Amino acid sequence: MTLIPLLIMNVILLVITIILAVADRVLVTYGECKITIHQENEKKELIVDGGNTLLSYLSANNIKISSSCGGKASCGYCKIRVLKGGGPILPTEEIFMSREEKLNNMRLACQVKVREDVDIYIPDFIETVMSMVKNKTFKTNRRWRVTIE
Ligand code: FES
Repeated sequence: MTLIPLLIMNVILLVITIILAVADRVLVTYGECKITIHQENEKKELIVDGGNTLLSYLSANNIKISSSCGGKASCGYCKIRVLKGGGPILPTEEIFMSREEKLNNMRLACQVKVREDVDIYIPDFIETVMSMVKNKTFKTNRRWRVTIE
């Protein structure tokens, strides 16, 4: 009997969440956005239709980013540095970032929505692992997806 109001409340929240997600996908357009990527000694530019995450645009353009959760903000491996754009850090990212990383504008690529022109720096794999060991966020039981070309 006491579960019915709780169930109704959860259904209402689920419906509101779905409506907001659909509205964000269908009604909101961010237009063309430029993603400037600094990686080692290279600089690349991508022109995309905004609204999706950095991780999805980078993956679609064969730019490899460490990831093991598929963009669900649960592994913390997709760290990049946002030099310009990207908006404020989200609560879902903060648990994976040290104070130093926050000050250096490190973000999770799977959580940054492209809504404007963005400049990013992609650290190399070793740099990412070393920072995670230093911050004690490295988990040895996690699976890494690494591509060596
Ligand atoms: S891909 Fe796992 S946290 Fe971003």
